[in-house]
Amino acid sequence: MSEFILELKNVSRYFGSVIALKDINMQIKLGEVHCLLGDNGAGKSTLIKTLAGVHEPSEGEFLMNAEPTAFSSPRDALDAGIATVYQDLALVNLMSVTRNFFMGREITKKWGPFSVFDTEKANEIARAGLAEMGIDVRDPEHPIGTMSGGERQCLAIARAIHFGAKVLILDEPTAALGVKQSANVLKVVARARARGLAVILITHNVHHAYPVADRFTLLNRGKSLGTWLKSDVSREEILEMMAGGQELENLEAELAEFARLDESA
Ligand SMILES: Nc1ncnc2c1ncn2[C@@H]1O[C@H](COP(=O)(O)OP(=O)(O)O)[C@@H](O)[C@H]1O
Ligand SMILES: [Mg+2]
Repeated sequence: MSEFILELKNVSRYFGSVIALKDINMQIKLGEVHCLLGDNGAGKSTLIKTLAGVHEPSEGEFLMNAEPTAFSSPRDALDAGIATVYQDLALVNLMSVTRNFFMGREITKKWGPFSVFDTEKANEIARAGLAEMGIDVRDPEHPIGTMSGGERQCLAIARAIHFGAKVLILDEPTAALGVKQSANVLKVVARARARGLAVILITHNVHHAYPVADRFTLLNRGKSLGTWLKSDVSREEILEMMAGGQELENLEAELAEFARLDESA
């Protein structure tokens, strides 16, 4: 067993002439929450999509348990235990909590010559799976549209854990949530960690990330500014580094604007 479940070595990803990621080195450990921070366009989504089988690296190495790995689809990554919860979640509003919990992995029972969805057993499993994550479902047959944004995030996370994910990737799980609901989602993140999963938490909100994170990686315009253990970096230092990156970006944009004005003069 390698010390790291996932590892990126000098990974770059290009989209035509756009450099979305450049020479990224990153190590992901089981039982750790690794927080990926960076402003819009920093490359956060591209990075996790590379881990989740959506994109292949243009250059560099991707290792899982120290073995070179190339997923040909998100389904491949999921089968290997890498589950991603995207912001839009892929839950179906009109379907019940239970149906959403099982989506694509329905358990069936024999009914005469037919196989039918075993609603009773499924309700029981969904309710128990959610309760383990600290989520009380009043009625698992209620449509998911009746749940709050935070509860849905929790459901999607509980589903991934229940079906055996080893690595849980969360893309901005608290971006659209209020304080109380964010806290609930972060509690579920802490539970996933306690169960020994590796969690990759993407956010541009240091305040949300800091309490649950073990390690931070800062991205700026496709490059890594570094990785720090929480014991080695304060919340203020992270904020400063992020602001520094932003200032540099503003400065470059201003200089480009000057150059353009200069040319047209
Ligand atoms: N499929 C794509 N095609 C072309 N450019 C892309 C694609 N995906 C991302 N990019 C570009 O890569 C850069 C990083 O984007 P992204 O990873 O979405 O950043 P973040 O999630 O940090 O906001 C941006 O400049 C974005 O426009
Ligand atoms: Mg993104």
